[in-house]
Amino acid sequence: MTVEEIRVSWGWLALREPADAAARAVDLVGHLGQRLPATGLLVIHDLGCGTGGMGRWLAPLLPGPQHWVMHDRDADLLKVAAADLPGPAADGAGVTVEARQSDITRLPPDELAGATLITASALLDMLTRDELAGLVSVCARAGCPVLLTLSVVGRVDLTPADPLDARVAAAFDAHQRREVDGRRLLGPDAVAVAVEQFERLGGEVLVRRSRWRLGASEAELTAEWFTGWVGAACEQQVELAAETEGYARRRLAEAAAGQLAVTVDHADLLVLPRADRAPG
Ligand SMILES: C[S@@+](CC[C@H](N)C(=O)[O-])C[C@H]1O[C@@H](n2cnc3c(N)ncnc32)[C@H](O)[C@@H]1O
Repeated sequence: MTVEEIRVSWGWLALREPADAAARAVDLVGHLGQRLPATGLLVIHDLGCGTGGMGRWLAPLLPGPQHWVMHDRDADLLKVAAADLPGPAADGAGVTVEARQSDITRLPPDELAGATLITASALLDMLTRDELAGLVSVCARAGCPVLLTLSVVGRVDLTPADPLDARVAAAFDAHQRREVDGRRLLGPDAVAVAVEQFERLGGEVLVRRSRWRLGASEAELTAEWFTGWVGAACEQQVELAAETEGYARRRLAEAAAGQLAVTVDHADLLVLPRADRAPG
C-alpha cells in the first residue's frame, strides 16, 4: 500500500516561522535548562524538522555546544534545514547539524539512543494514535526531556466575528481528523493523546498555551492561513464551498486591509522523565 504523503511547502514554513517563534512557550525552555547537563555536547533530535525552524528558535536559547540531528521524510525540506544552520548557542558555542531522511513513525527502537533532548514542532496532528504511541515509546526509551511545540488544539478566533466562522472551524477540525489511506489522523486530539501516553510511561508533562496572534503586520500569513483553513473545510464538507464564496472574498479583503485579527491556539508540551523511574 502506498501511503499518501501530506507534503508541506517550503514557502508555507518560511511564512509561518516568525509567528511560530513568537508563539512558543519560552518558560518551558527555562524548565528544560534545569534538566539538561551543564557541560558537554547536547545531542538534540528534531523530529519532522521541515526546514529547521525549531532549531533556529531553540539553539540560541540553550547554552553549550550542540549537535542537531534533523529528521524528516521530505528530502527537499531537509536540504534547507541542513543549509540554514541554527545557532550559535546562547553562550556563543558552536552548533552542528546532521540531516536524516526517514519516516519518524517507523524509527528503530534505539534510533534516539544517546539523545540529550528530543524536539518536534507542528507535527503531532499529522499522526495517528498508533503512530503517536510508537513515537512516544521511542522517545521514552531515550530517557531524556522531550519538547513538543505548536500542536493545534482546534480553537481559532477571528475578529471581527462572522456567523460562518464556527461552521468553517468545525469542518476544518473534522478535516484534520480525516482518514488518509486507512490512517485516521489525530488532528486537534493529538495533545490529549500525547499527554496520556507520556504520563502512562512515567513522564511528567508540563503543558502551555502557545498562540499565533495574527494582525495587520502578519497580513500575508493571515491570508495564507485563512485560504488553507477554508479550503480544508470545503474539502471536508463540499456544500460549504458555495456558502463560503462571499465570506472568503470578504475575509481576504479584510486581511489585505489589515482589518482581520486571528488567534490560532496551540499547545506546547515539555516531557520530563521522572528521576525515580527508569525509562519505559
Ligand atoms: C507542519 S511541518 C513542521 C516543520 C517544522 N517542525 C516547523 O515547525 O517548522 C511538519 C513536518 O513534519 C514532516 N513529517 C510529517 N510526517 C512525517 C513522518 N511520518 N516522518 C517524517 N517526517 C514527517 C513533514 O515533512 C513536515 O516537514
